[in-house]
Amino acid sequence: MRRSYSYNSSSSSTSSPCISPVSSRSSISDDDRDDDISNLDLSGSGSLNARSYILVIGGLGFIGSHTTLELLKEGYNVAIVDNMSNSYESKFTSIQSLAKQHWTAKGGKCPDLKLHKLDYRSPALRTILGRYVIQEPESSRLSYISGVIHFAAYKSVEESTRSPLAYYQNNVSGLIDLLVLLSDFGIQNFVFSSSATVYGSVLSKGGKPVQEEQLIHHETAHVDGQGQRMTLVPNVGGLTSPYGRTKYFGEAILADVALADPSWRLTALRYFNPVGCEPSGLLGEDPRQKATNLFPVVSQVLVGDRASLDVFGTDWDTSDGTAVRDYIHVMDLARGHVAALATAGARPADFAFRAYNLGTGTGSTVDQVVSCMQTAAKRTIPVNRTGRRTGDVGFCVAATDRARLELGWETQLSLEDCAADTWRYLQSSGRVAV
Ligand SMILES: NC(=O)c1ccc[n+]([C@@H]2O[C@H](COP(=O)([O-])OP(=O)(O)OC[C@H]3O[C@@H](n4cnc5c(N)ncnc54)[C@H](O)[C@@H]3O)[C@@H](O)[C@H]2O)c1
Repeated sequence: MRRSYSYNSSSSSTSSPCISPVSSRSSISDDDRDDDISNLDLSGSGSLNARSYILVIGGLGFIGSHTTLELLKEGYNVAIVDNMSNSYESKFTSIQSLAKQHWTAKGGKCPDLKLHKLDYRSPALRTILGRYVIQEPESSRLSYISGVIHFAAYKSVEESTRSPLAYYQNNVSGLIDLLVLLSDFGIQNFVFSSSATVYGSVLSKGGKPVQEEQLIHHETAHVDGQGQRMTLVPNVGGLTSPYGRTKYFGEAILADVALADPSWRLTALRYFNPVGCEPSGLLGEDPRQKATNLFPVVSQVLVGDRASLDVFGTDWDTSDGTAVRDYIHVMDLARGHVAALATAGARPADFAFRAYNLGTGTGSTVDQVVSCMQTAAKRTIPVNRTGRRTGDVGFCVAATDRARLELGWETQLSLEDCAADTWRYLQSSGRVAV
């Protein structure tokens, strides 16, 4: 049995380093795009810390692009790996110009941003990581890459039921090979995009914010809010799609790796409902694949690409009968990743694997979202009220204590911010017919 739950950031940790932003920075240039394996110049003077990079896999996607921007604003050098299977290279330019604007206004030099255009499962990734190897023999680190955030995955629940093998290949097999590769290069601070979907049937019990210990991977001693000591046992159930299972398997693999070798720091961030976008309107959700989530569908109705919004279920036990979800602004989510990376090194070895909910702790109904978007856009959203979908739940909201206490992170932005920023992006990307 593992140690009882009692997190203390000053507890002894293993050799995994705390990650902090670089102290001196190089400027971004247009040469920072790298088709597969062209030369990456890491030579020259400067401290190791000044040439530390965060590897962001899937960094051109919706959450990855916002997180990359946040990392650059916080002073981290970033190397993106993305095959653009669900994103566009233009995101790179948007991230660059927003980061430059930030640092110009602040009066400092922008950190370095690199793009490696490739499938993260390609053998070329080993060659690229080879270029980040630290040559100094006295260095305690092997790689200039001090942390990895892994966003790259396929994410459509519906598509995953039609093409399960493609999902297991990208989201699970890819993850295993990636961990082996990172291990070869001594890179051990790893942040994984998980999802509230891993809670499965826990969510159908409904009504209360869901806590991280309601889905665990190994037997754990736990003290509840009343001081009761108990042993929690792994309890997965009710995962209804291959996509959901890939996220669960991903977490379980990380938890097993951490148990075998506690010098890793493996963090699973369980996202609730990421929405909104960077407030300038330059960066937003722009997938190649068909979107099925509420905000993208509402956006399609607002720009005239869809006649109406289907509202599934109007008889849930909620304030207006429509389903409640925990909508988190993507900029808040991005800050959560920075906090997870920065605090991982201080975690004790017993928490080599750790999962955190990233949500607001407050739910909103579908009708509340529609109302907010109508106010932001000053347009009416036609809705088509229909029955519940199989497998849906009425209430899915995050308990946020663990992230607040251990990551020192909480959300700052509201549903109104999400709606206003989404609408600004639709306007500035030219999708709104006036
Ligand atoms: N958006 C959500 O609502 C949500 C909710 C919970 C969890 N997640 C998870 O968060 C992560 C990011 O989600 P997102 O909404 O930003 O998705 P996204 O599709 O916008 O971004 C994923 C990025 O990864 C890239 N990619 C995919 N497979 C790749 C591969 N094999 N090699 C290189 N690049 C690859 C895509 O081109 C894309 O740029 C995913 O793992 C997703 O499952 C998302």
